[in-house]
Amino acid sequence: MENQNLLYDNLKVCDNGELIFAGVSTTALAKEFKTPLYVLDEELIRNRCKEYVNAVNQAFDGNASVLYASKALSFKKIYSIIQEEGLGIDVVSQGEIYTAKIAGFNMQNAYFHSNNKTDEDIEFALDNGVGFFVVDNEEELVAINEISNSRGVTTNVLLRITPGIDPHTYEEVATGKVDSKFGSAIETGQAEEIVKMAISLQNINLEGLHCHVGSQVFDGEVYKMASEVMLNFIALIKNKYNYTIKKLDLGGGFGVKYVSGDGDLDIQKSVSEVATFVKNKVLSLGIKMPHICFEPGRSIVADAGITLYTVGTVKRITGYKNYVSVDGGMTDNPRYALYKSKYTILPAYNMNKECDMLCSVVGRCCESGDILQEDVYMPSTIKRGDIIACLTTGAYNYAMSSNYNRLTKPAIVMIKDKKAEVVVERQSLEHLTMLDK
Ligand code: LLP
Repeated sequence: MENQNLLYDNLKVCDNGELIFAGVSTTALAKEFKTPLYVLDEELIRNRCKEYVNAVNQAFDGNASVLYASKALSFKKIYSIIQEEGLGIDVVSQGEIYTAKIAGFNMQNAYFHSNNKTDEDIEFALDNGVGFFVVDNEEELVAINEISNSRGVTTNVLLRITPGIDPHTYEEVATGKVDSKFGSAIETGQAEEIVKMAISLQNINLEGLHCHVGSQVFDGEVYKMASEVMLNFIALIKNKYNYTIKKLDLGGGFGVKYVSGDGDLDIQKSVSEVATFVKNKVLSLGIKMPHICFEPGRSIVADAGITLYTVGTVKRITGYKNYVSVDGGMTDNPRYALYKSKYTILPAYNMNKECDMLCSVVGRCCESGDILQEDVYMPSTIKRGDIIACLTTGAYNYAMSSNYNRLTKPAIVMIKDKKAEVVVERQSLEHLTMLDK
């Protein structure tokens, strides 16, 4: 019977029971590169990019772009891949801007987000040729105008608008509701105020509007709801201020499969549903069709990544519970500790063994909340030295990793044509203490 837990086509089991990822033995990877280890499948990342680019081009007749939300996973090589596949990027900090820039990314195709850009951030983004600022609030807009004025430049701006929509996924990532810390809400009148201000400022070119409602969305419905609100608002701006909004960025948020019960995302179908809705709405409002942007992060990289760990202690507290401790934990994947996020964890060393022991897979930090996953079934014979794999860790794992307990961050290896290459080195103890005086 097909193993339900092999969530993606790039996962296989070979005759001796070892888990194969992107054509390479996971235990061999663990041996060569040590653990914990992030492993990425380059082909899958490229295929996801192609899927998005083709879907939006087809659905919006070439009048649309895909921007990779690089907060999901940011390191030099990813920006080269993204550029080669024809996507733009969403960046949120000097760190992401710097990494993209030194990777050779054309910064004209970068959109600078964040709800609190400091003056230094604004200067840095302008110094590095960032193409668009996605502006969160009036104070920021004024600061960008002043700094642009002092440089004698006009800056392209999209305004982040809060459409008042709840994606009903999980609270920590719901950002489109009126009381969100992000953007200016239509309902409170703040959105109209900031639009008026942007139109009036000398060194601001108001190019478009932006919204982002949340994450782990599996169909086009939420984007239709958001575009309905946003297009009505674009029509209001046209009618009241005779100003044409040229770009509408609908944000990111498409979902991925973490466990077998999760939904399946059909990118082409969802994007084309949204496009049909947008086109009809634009016609009925009698406005010009804006250039549409999507900003997927998670759905481009999450399922292209796994994390390999080596088992240490296996603790059986008779009558209570079992713990399998690994050599990583909340430092390389804080998502269970933060959101109780579900993950699929597999005995990569031998997938043919019966998984007959209920356990918690936990990390090595001095903190009882350092849990990778509860209620996992592992073989009762599991022992120190065995390799296990956590699936779907490409997004928001390395990106959110920390050095808590002075643990070093794992390396990232990327597999292409069945060959593994280190794309981010494992931190050393020297790296850890490099900044200490
Ligand atoms: N655009 C904007 C403005 C965003 O705020 C985000 C995510 C995205 C795009 C990309 O969303 P995605 O396609 O990746 O769902 N740390 C959390 C996720 C936070 C997402 C924040 N914004 C997690 O681990 O689930």
